[in-house]
Amino acid sequence: MIAFVIQTMLQITTFGSPILANQKSISYEDPICEGNIQNLWLDVMVVVDKSQQMTNAQLWQVRNTITQVFGTVKQFGPVKYPKDPRSTCVGVVTFDETATTNAQLDASKSFSDLYNVVQTSLVQVDSTNTTFLKSGLLAAEEAFNEGRTRTYRYNYKKVILVFAADYQGEGTSLDPKKIAKDLKKDNIIIISVSCASDPKTAEKIKKIASPGYSFVDEMNTAKLVGQVTNALINANCYCPEDYEQYRIDYHNSSSTQYAICVQGFKATGGSYGYQHAVEYCQSQEKNTFLANEFTYMLATFPAYNPSEYYIGLSYQKNQWVWEQPYGLDHIPLSGYTNWGPGFPQANSTGQVIAVQTFDNGTTYQWGPPQSNDWLFVCQIQASSTENYTDWAESL
Ligand SMILES: *[C@@H]1O[C@H](CO)[C@@H](O)[C@H](O)[C@H]1NC(C)=O
Ligand SMILES: *[C@@H]1O[C@H](CO)[C@@H](O)[C@H](O)[C@H]1NC(C)=O
Ligand SMILES: *[C@@H]1O[C@H](CO)[C@@H](O)[C@H](O)[C@H]1NC(C)=O
Ligand SMILES: *[C@@H]1O[C@H](CO)[C@@H](O)[C@H](O)[C@H]1NC(C)=O
Ligand SMILES: *[C@@H]1O[C@H](CO)[C@@H](O)[C@H](O)[C@H]1NC(C)=O
Repeated sequence: MIAFVIQTMLQITTFGSPILANQKSISYEDPICEGNIQNLWLDVMVVVDKSQQMTNAQLWQVRNTITQVFGTVKQFGPVKYPKDPRSTCVGVVTFDETATTNAQLDASKSFSDLYNVVQTSLVQVDSTNTTFLKSGLLAAEEAFNEGRTRTYRYNYKKVILVFAADYQGEGTSLDPKKIAKDLKKDNIIIISVSCASDPKTAEKIKKIASPGYSFVDEMNTAKLVGQVTNALINANCYCPEDYEQYRIDYHNSSSTQYAICVQGFKATGGSYGYQHAVEYCQSQEKNTFLANEFTYMLATFPAYNPSEYYIGLSYQKNQWVWEQPYGLDHIPLSGYTNWGPGFPQANSTGQVIAVQTFDNGTTYQWGPPQSNDWLFVCQIQASSTENYTDWAESL
């Protein structure tokens, strides 16, 4: 939840950016995506299969799950000029052969509004076995579009939470595959809960979800509430457009995410020194800075491997320090040893390149630049339930 745990802010008084002195209080760990459902700020369309492929017991369970998950969220609906802009809009669509929008995205202004919608629209399954997930997803898409034009909540991440009991229309124009793909391409997170008894159907439903966001209803409300809650908190942890989000295993898109976003920029030739990179990063989104590399993870990202890239580590005032967002103190380097040959130099002009291969084939983690072309990597903390951002972009 907390990026860099800094308890005591003892500063060395000197010129320029101060450096934090009390190393013991600094956490050199990258923060993973955590958060608190109370502070959720998302735009959510709940999409529920109401065909007879669901049982009434399952529908009851879905109702309970929605109620419990959103029951703890503090602020509902679009709020004008609030002190705390973190609020969640929840619309509700049900579907079988066709879809019904029971509540528009911005209709519920409080949890009790949502509660009433859920209690009246999810009472009993319909009298048909035909069910087209595609119709439900299309209705959700439309509700998002219409809701946005009324609320202007353009910096709130969109999430579709779908409960489906069957996958019909496969291979026809009613196949939900394409619309699901388009929605995900538009940065919408799809959380799927399969209420199907057939494992093969459950597999198909899983595929419409965003990676790591598919669940199976085991008629265990507490478990499902936990899974959906975590999924929503995770969905609220995201990066600005064009940035990549750290995760434990780059190649596994469902592995645990970090609350850290990075983007590489190409620097060519000697004219672009360290200070240029520092300032370039600061000119990006608010609070962007030349990247730290506490976990040496960057090199596993295909875009940065095997490139050389600047990281925000420089020698200042007799010690190596990490860059921080503009206005915050640098923090001192602690406990690193795998330097390139000749480094660290006490007299260094202060540039460090991470992961590079020398002419003789030896790879060093950190050292001086060996060529004229390299990237520099800018970093920013991800949005999260604890960190509201207003990056201007269409999410
Ligand atoms: C739906 O399918 C089930 C199981 O095949 C069947 O028992 C039920 O009668 C069907 N319902 C309708 C409305 O056709
Ligand atoms: C990806 O990560 C998830 C979550 O940690 C894990 O359950 C899954 O087995 C991983 N998949 C692969 C292919 O490693
Ligand atoms: C590789 O080159 C660097 C820089 O010239 C040198 O310091 C280092 O000892 C060399 N390593 C090996 C294994 O030859
Ligand atoms: C820094 O010191 C090293 C020896 O420790 C020397 O080789 C190098 O030229 C010096 N660099 C600068 C910029 O003064
Ligand atoms: C992000 O959230 C943490 C935890 O609440 C807080 O300490 C930190 O100041 C926030 N960062 C920003 C940039 O708002």
